[in-house]
Amino acid sequence: MKTKTYVITGSASGIGRALLNRIAEDNIVFAGYRNQEHEKTLKEISSNIYPFYIDYTRPETIKYAADYILSKCTKVDTLINIAGCVVAGPVENIEMDEIKRQFDVNVFGHLELSRKLLDILNDGKIINISSMASFGIFPFISPYCASKRCLDMFFNSLLIENKKNIQVVSIKPGVIATPLWGKSIQENSKYFDNCKDYVDEMRYLISNAQKNETRGLSVEKVVDVILKADRARHPKLSYTVGFDAFIASIISKLPQSFINNLIKFGLKYRMKK
Ligand SMILES: NC(=O)c1ccc[n+]([C@@H]2O[C@H](COP(=O)([O-])OP(=O)(O)OC[C@H]3O[C@@H](n4cnc5c(N)ncnc54)[C@H](OP(=O)(O)O)[C@@H]3O)[C@@H](O)[C@H]2O)c1
Repeated sequence: MKTKTYVITGSASGIGRALLNRIAEDNIVFAGYRNQEHEKTLKEISSNIYPFYIDYTRPETIKYAADYILSKCTKVDTLINIAGCVVAGPVENIEMDEIKRQFDVNVFGHLELSRKLLDILNDGKIINISSMASFGIFPFISPYCASKRCLDMFFNSLLIENKKNIQVVSIKPGVIATPLWGKSIQENSKYFDNCKDYVDEMRYLISNAQKNETRGLSVEKVVDVILKADRARHPKLSYTVGFDAFIASIISKLPQSFINNLIKFGLKYRMKK
C-alpha cells in the first residue's frame, strides 16, 4: 500500500484518535493536539506520527503549526479537519464571546490552517468532520449548528473556486459516542445552571448529552466513512454517518415552518418522558 501523508486535527481524542490508530502504522501523520499532555502519548503510538500543538482559540498557534508542517514536508495527500467543540444554551443567554469561540474553533481555525496548507495540498483532499447539525434543525445548540453549516459553506466555495485540483468532502455524523458530550456539559454548565426561563429544556439537554456519550454510534463507523472518502477517486461531496444523520438530511428538505413545528412537538414530547 502506498504511504500517504495526512494532517489531522483533534487527533488526541474521540474520532481523531480512532482515525490515528487506523492510519498511523502505514502512513505519515501530522497529528494536531490541543492539550499539551497529549504530545507524549501521540509520539508513543508510532514513529510515523509528528504531533503538533494547535489551539484554535489562539491564532498564533495556527501559524506555528502550519510553519512546522511546511518545514517537514512538500506534499500532503489529505487534510482531515476534525477538532471541534460545542457551545450550547438558549440563543438569548449565550455570551457573544462564546459564540465567537464556537466559530473560531469549528470554522475559522479549520479555514486558516487549510488555507496555509493549500500549496502542498495540490491534487489532494480536504475532509471536514462537519455534523448532522449542519442540516440546522436542533434548538439550544444553535452556535454549533450554525458553525457546522458555515464550515460546509466556506469549504464548498473553496471546492468550486480552487484551481489546485483539491477535492473537498464533508462528513456529517449523527450521534457518536465520544467525550465531546461530557465536555459540552462541562463547558456550557453556566448556561445550563442560569437559564431560569429554560430550566426544563436545559435539564433535558444535559440528560440527553449524558446518554449520547454512551448510546451513540461507535467512532469506528465515522473512521470507516473517512477512509472510504479518502480512498475514493471521485468522493461524494457529503456523507452522512448513522440513521439519525440520514433522517436529519431528509427532514432538512421540508419547509422550515413544518420543521419548526415538528421540533417543538418532539421536544415537548421527549421532555415529558
Ligand atoms: N460526537 C458526536 O456525536 C459528533 C457528531 C457529529 C460531529 N462530531 C464532530 O466530530 C469532531 C470530533 O469530535 P469528537 O466527537 O471526536 O469529540 P472529542 O473527542 O471531544 O474531539 C474533539 C477534538 O477537538 C479538539 N479541540 C477542542 N477544542 C479545540 C481547540 N480550541 N483547538 C484545537 N482543538 C480543539 C479536542 O481537544 P482536547 O482533547 O484537548 O479536548 C479533541 O481532540 C468534532 O468536530 C465534532 O463536532 C461529533
